[in-house]
Amino acid sequence: MTSPRIIDVRFEHYPTGKRALGVDDSKPRISWRFLDVESDFEQTGYEIEVSRTSPSGASTVDVMHVSSSESHLVPWPQPDKALASREKCSVRVRAWGKNQTDPLPWSDAAEIEIGLLQRDDWTGGIISAPWSGENLDKPQPEDLFRKEFTLSSKPVSARLYITALGVYEAEINGKRVGDHYMAPGWTSYHGQLHYQTFDVTDLLDSNENCLGVRVAEGWYKGRIGFMFSRNFYGSRTGVLAQLEVTYKDGKTFTLGTDGTWTAHQGPTRQAEIYDGELYDARAHIEGWSSAGTNGLEDWKLGDILPPLPAEQRLVAGSKPPVRRPETIRPLEVIKTPSGKLVLDFGQNLVGHLRVAKGNRAPAGHKLTFQHAEVLEDGELGLRPLRACKAQDTYVFRGDAQGETFQPRFTFHGFRYAQVDGWPAGEDILSSIEAVVCNSDMEEAGAFQCSKPKVNHLFSNTKWSMRGNFFSLPTDCPQRDERLGWTGDLALFAPTATLIYQCFGVLKDWLQDVAFDQKQRGGVPPMVSPNCLAGIETWGDVWPCAVWHDVAVLAPWALWEETKDIAILEQQYESMTSWLKVIPRNKGRLTHLWDLKGYQLGDWLDPNAPPDDPQKAVTDPTLVANAFLAQCLTLMAQTSTILGRTEDACFFEDWYTNARDEFVEEYVSPSGRLVSDSQTAYALAICFGLLSPDQTTTAGNRLAEIIKSNKLCIGTGFAGTPFVCEALARTGHADTAYAMLLNEKCPSWLYPISMGATTIWERWDSMLPDASINGGEMTSFNHYAFGAVSKFLVERVAGLQRVAPGWKRSRVEPLLGGGLTSASASHVTPYGLVSVSWTLEETDTGDEVEGVGKFTLDVVVPPTTTMEVVLPSRGAKTTEVVGSGQWSFTCAV
Ligand code: BGC
Repeated sequence: MTSPRIIDVRFEHYPTGKRALGVDDSKPRISWRFLDVESDFEQTGYEIEVSRTSPSGASTVDVMHVSSSESHLVPWPQPDKALASREKCSVRVRAWGKNQTDPLPWSDAAEIEIGLLQRDDWTGGIISAPWSGENLDKPQPEDLFRKEFTLSSKPVSARLYITALGVYEAEINGKRVGDHYMAPGWTSYHGQLHYQTFDVTDLLDSNENCLGVRVAEGWYKGRIGFMFSRNFYGSRTGVLAQLEVTYKDGKTFTLGTDGTWTAHQGPTRQAEIYDGELYDARAHIEGWSSAGTNGLEDWKLGDILPPLPAEQRLVAGSKPPVRRPETIRPLEVIKTPSGKLVLDFGQNLVGHLRVAKGNRAPAGHKLTFQHAEVLEDGELGLRPLRACKAQDTYVFRGDAQGETFQPRFTFHGFRYAQVDGWPAGEDILSSIEAVVCNSDMEEAGAFQCSKPKVNHLFSNTKWSMRGNFFSLPTDCPQRDERLGWTGDLALFAPTATLIYQCFGVLKDWLQDVAFDQKQRGGVPPMVSPNCLAGIETWGDVWPCAVWHDVAVLAPWALWEETKDIAILEQQYESMTSWLKVIPRNKGRLTHLWDLKGYQLGDWLDPNAPPDDPQKAVTDPTLVANAFLAQCLTLMAQTSTILGRTEDACFFEDWYTNARDEFVEEYVSPSGRLVSDSQTAYALAICFGLLSPDQTTTAGNRLAEIIKSNKLCIGTGFAGTPFVCEALARTGHADTAYAMLLNEKCPSWLYPISMGATTIWERWDSMLPDASINGGEMTSFNHYAFGAVSKFLVERVAGLQRVAPGWKRSRVEPLLGGGLTSASASHVTPYGLVSVSWTLEETDTGDEVEGVGKFTLDVVVPPTTTMEVVLPSRGAKTTEVVGSGQWSFTCAV
């Protein structure tokens, strides 16, 4: 037996051992986990040893003892001593259990280093190429910036702090700095701009050095939004960088961006998010980021741009960078009916192609990649891309050694790529690979069951989530959008937290939402960052139910997953100010929405016409008011959690009235709804808006509607996350399973029967005859309908969070659908929780038909408890267990 230990000491929500360089958190909260402790182990106290090293090298060690059972996000142990800019700190933890005189041994140390907290920590200014700001109506080439400098000896430590107005990649002495993709990522730049911190000690030489930075337009200045707008955040790209070097004797050297840096246009002649990249290798400048390079006389001195406005936060932020975690080889080369060469990667993904093997062609030869998600009539289906070229082009320089290519500043959503101009001779299949790009999030959980197509559904949700979490949660990676649509995330957030650890991404994005919301008098944006501001309709301020409810629903989902009260504090103003500006009826139903004008409602109801996706069968006011009631009750709970008693009463009171008015307006005494639709019943049941008797009627009616709809889906964005859950809650597991397993369109498995490898935007993005839906928006990579994956984890496998932050969990599998096994796991703040069940037919000689042996294995993380509900024959039985591994069997 291994001895009990403390592991995984970590700061805030940064993954263990990662992302602890250059952070903003000057009083970081600390968490840890236990390993190999007794199943009833309870912590009674802990000690934290804090070793601090100031930038000047002075060090201190302090140990603080705290009596507490908490091991998750405990407060910074030195409340009066915040960490300062550049300060390094390492932390170890030991803890005592109940009735234990000796503590568990000290954990390994976790380290953190603070970034630049104050604006005046930055010595330089933002430099921009003198020509930046010209030709504003078309895409511009990347700009290269360089600065040579001399060091007196090899440094012991060096940090590069850097950001850009645009997107950048830095090089030192010809070598790439870090592995971030399209840094600094996208934020509501007018509110906050992120900088990154890199340890560049190993890239520096003892004497002559050069720092080079390439900057392209990116989200800052390139085309963004579907209204052809450019230069949204400014008319000039630029870079702000600071290299800080420490020598062995403690002396330091700092290099900032200033008027002595020089600039030149680079070989990337176009770097567009939508239209793609054009790289002309003939314009490559050999040695541009190395010291002592000759022939750079035509480089021009950069301009210094005005400093960032004081109200624009320059911060490290909480989100992980976009990285390129995986490459995928093509499965086959297809010759299309028109004679084109198309690669099939077998997976719809987000990223770009890389020519990994050196390839030879004469100077000026063009190689083009055209990306698409699907084929139609054997050729690339380009119509769904709308005004988006999704093309990358490489122009050869004629190098006899062969040339490789990989874009730097663009991304595409594709499974297929047409290759034009492939040089003769090289084997295309072994030369080209697809590079997957996404926000670098750790996996949060897994799901599997005995039905391969259901597993495929979960996998498709995962792929759609990772692809669309590209710096922030976006809608689709292939067409001229890729925007942070608030409604999509509002509905998907509770599922997202079960799939990837997305706290950092969403915490950061919610700050953007709050910033954009402030500019709109309290009404959240339709998309955040709000690059539609100023654009008719989409940029106008019209309160939109569900979409704007993101202000309440997303922070709540993060709270439930993590029990991190700070996220509720951070978003409190955004949450309350949204609810308070919702226009309300006058005269009657005064606690409900006064819904005038355009609403998205149950967007993309399968019964809505392809070109009118908001024309759902469910009354949009019913949808809006159901969500209002839900937001109000969550708001009342949030206020209570934060100790804001007056607000709690206010929202509780409003909620009670809103629920009563909802029932008065939309519900018959028996429990029928005025919109006799799947979405209406699903929302009313899951949001608890009905009495127990009405809930029974509503559940029965929901099951009837689904059966008479041939078990097909009848919900759009708003109803989809809730429909199976509503059936489960009202005793209609069979209907839930029949609907889940149905493969006829519209259904979750229909796309899979058509070969989908991601979740589609429409139930029928591809029609049964393999033609692409004629609607204007037809993405094949949209996470919203994948929200059903929450049902897979919570009901099919049966793994549920009972208390916020997973201190208490429940396992209660919902048997049915002919499934013979299922399993799920989740990384909780306390460790991995998991369940795995199997159902075997047994021949017990029992006269009862269909007797089976049900086996359940669970793993319960230390210091948590689990309610295990067994589906025993007759009545369900519940047992509560502590941490460890447990097995159960029963007859069902
Ligand atoms: C997006 C959606 C979004 C919707 C709202 C679409 O173009 O892709 O996901 O929520 O517009 O209008």
